[in-house]
Order: sequence, then structure tokens, then C-alpha cells
Amino acid sequence: MAVKQVAVIGAGVSGLASIKTCLEEGFEPVCFERDEKVGGVWVFRDEVRTDHEESALYHALVTNSSKEMMCYSDYPFPKDCPPYIPGKRLGKYYEDYAEHFGLLKHIRFSTKVLKLEEAEDYDTTGRWSVTTEGPGGKSTDIFDAVMVCTGMFSQAKMPTYPGQDEFEGEILHSNDYRKADSYANKTVLVVGGSHSAGDVAVDTSRKSKKTYISMRNGTWVITRAGPMGWPRDLFLNRRFNFLLPEWYRRNMVEKDLATRFNVDNLGLRSTRKLFCSEVMVNDDIANRIFCGALTAKPGIKHFTQKGVVFTDGTKIDNLDSVIYATGYNIKVPFVGTHLISDKIDELQLYQYVFPAKQKHPTFACVGFVMTVGAHAPVFEIQARWATQVFKGNVSLPPVSGMLKDIEMKKKFLYQKFGKHIIFIPPIPYQDGIATKIGAKPTFKSLFLKDPILALKCFFGPAVPASYRLQGPHVWSGARDTIMNVWQNTVSGTKFRDTPIANGPEGYPIALKLIFLVCIVAGLYLVMM
Ligand SMILES: Cc1cc2nc3c(=O)[nH]c(=O)nc-3n(C[C@H](O)[C@H](O)[C@H](O)COP(=O)(O)OP(=O)(O)OC[C@H]3O[C@@H](n4cnc5c(N)ncnc54)[C@H](O)[C@@H]3O)c2cc1C
Ligand SMILES: *[C@@H]1O[C@H](CO)[C@@H](O)[C@H](O)[C@H]1NC(C)=O
Repeated sequence: MAVKQVAVIGAGVSGLASIKTCLEEGFEPVCFERDEKVGGVWVFRDEVRTDHEESALYHALVTNSSKEMMCYSDYPFPKDCPPYIPGKRLGKYYEDYAEHFGLLKHIRFSTKVLKLEEAEDYDTTGRWSVTTEGPGGKSTDIFDAVMVCTGMFSQAKMPTYPGQDEFEGEILHSNDYRKADSYANKTVLVVGGSHSAGDVAVDTSRKSKKTYISMRNGTWVITRAGPMGWPRDLFLNRRFNFLLPEWYRRNMVEKDLATRFNVDNLGLRSTRKLFCSEVMVNDDIANRIFCGALTAKPGIKHFTQKGVVFTDGTKIDNLDSVIYATGYNIKVPFVGTHLISDKIDELQLYQYVFPAKQKHPTFACVGFVMTVGAHAPVFEIQARWATQVFKGNVSLPPVSGMLKDIEMKKKFLYQKFGKHIIFIPPIPYQDGIATKIGAKPTFKSLFLKDPILALKCFFGPAVPASYRLQGPHVWSGARDTIMNVWQNTVSGTKFRDTPIANGPEGYPIALKLIFLVCIVAGLYLVMM
């Protein structure tokens, strides 16, 4: 049955991309958003909601990917935006996007999805029944397909340690943390080894009497600025890099990081290798530890009335607050766990999008993957693939094939990280999905048409616009965007002329030449 009406649930980064791709395919999307605004995570609000259903931003949040990497493929950030954008500013980008592409009229705000299940005639039609509650009361509607875009960051994960109940101080999740003011002259313990833990610890350390950060396994601290002071993700996320062995990539990054701080002296070193462990994008943590405002400690063993005891036997007395920055659980309460499990290791989503066991390919999850990089372009390519599948232009493998693929990926990730986690490098994943819909830049044909552009796509930063050069719904601005990545980055930071204007050099020139020669030789052989 031809898909026409599509329910999109959620109007965050994933939902907006989904509405837009539905429109491009000629579908009629109806988006249900429980909030009054678009943007999801990026809607900034000062108050702490009591339902704890929404993920929330703290004042000090700054994006951990650069703007050239974090934008949608056909909607770059304004030129004068800084390369790393304060969380409070980012919401506007998503509002602008929704406005620009005329998405708002397809969104029913203040409308919560209560139930999503197979329609009565599902077996023959693949349709879905969506029950919502909004300003007009409850209603149930039937849709040809659904895209679930409610995010992976909705339920705060709170650990419990022995003795926690007796602790007399305050305990909260980073989701309820807003700013450091109320921590003046207090002793604070932040728990966690990832981005939020680092941000919150650095933030409170500026006001508190003393802040501690407790990490079971340490972490890899990654600075925003990378080689030669350019945004690091412009170096990490290159197609060419992923042809290099992982140990080599790891080496490159570790070497650069070692010039910035000594993770052993600071007590931060991870017990696991880089790319197999948690990472923390943070520029300030080393300085805070250097001046004694912050101290890294091991995992918590148990609480006492007034503090905690750590696994190494050391303790803190007179602790005022504990802030858990321990991440989130997946929770999609309105849909059965046969479609979306609430346990990471039981999720059976083919390529993190399609429940493998559905009879019809009319149900897609967008935004259910965590990548070590910017999320918007990942979710966008998922949405583009999902709509191509709905349309029948692209088909899914048989169930057994999908299940096998899922199991393989799970095993691989488990071996790599030593736990069930979805944490993948974005470029190979995006390229894989893009290949399915013909949107991955094909080097050979691109090289023959536009060699400079081809080299940029392959050796340079794999920016989202590179998925708009071919395939469905190309964008005429894509080439310019790809060619001007470095200038656009600088135009957000440089408002005063300096004597030397130097260009970026990603790889040593000799390495570039060698690969250029290899490629030309390769092309020659292929064309013979
Ligand atoms: C603190 C924090 C910092 C982050 N920093 C970065 C970063 O720097 N860079 C980056 O790329 N990513 C970052 N992320 C990841 C970020 O979550 C994703 O990039 C992206 O914003 C997720 O978008 P989403 O649309 O999938 O989900 P969300 O933004 O969570 O949006 C889901 C939407 O669905 C709605 N919804 C949920 N349930 C229902 C329902 N039952 N009915 C109707 N509507 C519903 C919600 O109201 C919400 O609007 C960060 C996340 C957090 C929590
Ligand atoms: C940025 O933060 C989000 C949320 O914590 C995370 O999922 C993502 O991997 C981070 N990006 C990078 C480049 O580490």
C-alpha cells in the first residue's frame, strides 16, 4: 500500500528532519509534539520540570561538535556564528530551520502521544494507530507509517549506592542542574566521566568551596581545538581517516592530546583505550584541577550520613551535594517493547532505525543512535533513508539478515567497550546509510567531474553537505559549503585582521601527495 500519511512523533532535531524529508517525498506528515516549541533538547528553560521527562540544558553548555559538522546537510549555520555554539543559542537554529522549510504548519504542539500500536488492519496494510492528547482532547488517528523521534535522552539514569538513603545532603541528576550560583561555598561531588560530568564539575568548581569528580574508569578528555588550533572534529571526521587502521588514528589523537595535558598527573587517565571508552569534550577541566578547585576521585563505594567513601578507601566528609551526570535510559513509554525495547542490549533495530521483526517496513526510529560526533546529520540521513523505504524506492533485507546484522554489531560493540552501548563513529555509519539511498559521494565519478571537490570530500572534513551532491534531493549550495568549511569556521572567530593568514594543513603534504598518486594510479587502473 502506498504510504501517504506519516505520523512523526517529536519535533526535536530528529523530528524536524523527518517532517522535512516526508514533505520532500510528497507525504503528508503530521508531527505530534508535547512541548510548545520545536528543538527538543535544545529548548532552553530555567525551571526544572517536576515530571523529569525532558532532558534539559544547563547555562554553561556549549556544543561539543563544531558548527560545520553539526548542521543539517542543506542548512548551514550563519557565517558569523562561532564554531562552537552555546546551547542557549542553538534552539534558534532549529526554529529557523522549521520556519525556512515551512515545517511549523505540520506540527501539532502541546500534543502528547499516549499510545502507538498496530492498526486493526495492520496485517494487510501496515498501518498504525496513534492516540494523542492535545488541546482538543484525546483522539486516535490512523497513519500509513510512523517515525518515532522522541530521543534517547528522556529518562535520567540514577545509580544507587549503599547508604545513599542515609545521606543528608542533596542528590540530583545533571538533567536538573542549571547553574553554579547555588553551590557557592559548598562541597560538591559530580559523578560521571562524560561530557555533562565534565561541564558540571568545571562549572561548580568556579563557585564551590571544592568540587570533586568521581570516575570509575577515568575518561579521555578531548579538547574542542585540535591540531593547529582548528576544531578537532574537522580532522577526526574525514572519510580518508577511516581507511587508516584504528591504532594509527588513535595514535594521532593521543599524541596531540598529550601535548595539551598530562592525564596521569591529573588523575584522569582512562583504564581503556581511546575509541573504546568514554570521552569528555572539555577545554577547562585540566586548568580547574591545576588550580586545586577540582579533584578527580575513583568510583564511589558507599555513602555515609555526611559524605562518601571511595573505592580506594579515601573519603569526603561534609559533602553538601552530589550531582549524578550518569546519562540516560531509553524510554518510549507509548509503544510496545517488541518494537522498541527499553534495554539497550535488547534493542533490535536494523541499522538503529527499523525494528527488525515488523511485518511491514512502515515503522522507523530516527535518533536512536549515539555517535562520537554531531548528531543532526546522522539523524537526517536516517530520516532520508526511512522515507525512501516507506516510498518503496529502497527495500530492507529479509528479517534473518537484519537480525544477523544487529547481532554482529552488538557483539562488536560489546567486545570493544566491554559493555552494551551504542556508540559509533558517525562517518562510516552515515556513509553506509547514504549508500543505500545513493547519497554517498562516489569518489570516482565525482573526481572525473570536479576533482577538487572530490578530494575535499574524501580527504577533507566529511561535512553534512557532502550528502547533498547526489541522490534524492540534492542541494545547489552543497559545493560552496564544502569548499568553504575553513573560511566559515574562521568567520565566526576572526573579527580583526592579523599579519599572517594561514590555511589549515590536515595531513603532512608528503602524505597527501602519496595518496594523490595512489588514487590517480587506482583510477587509471579502474578505467583501463
Ligand atoms: C545535555 C546534552 C548535551 C548534548 N550536546 C550535544 C552536542 O553538543 N552536539 C550534538 O550533536 N548532540 C548533543 N546532544 C545530543 C542531542 O540530544 C541530540 O543531538 C539531539 O538534540 C537529539 O534530538 P532528538 O530530536 O532525537 O531528541 P530530543 O531533542 O529529545 O527531542 C524529542 C522530542 O520529542 C518530544 N516528545 C517526547 N515524547 C513525546 C510524546 N509522547 N509525545 C509527543 N512528543 C514527545 C519531546 O518533547 C522533544 O521535543 C546533547 C544531549 C544532551 C542531553
Ligand atoms: C556530545 O554530547 C552528546 C550528549 O552527551 C554525545 O552523545 C555525543 O557523543 C557528544 N559528541 C562528541 C563529539 O563527543
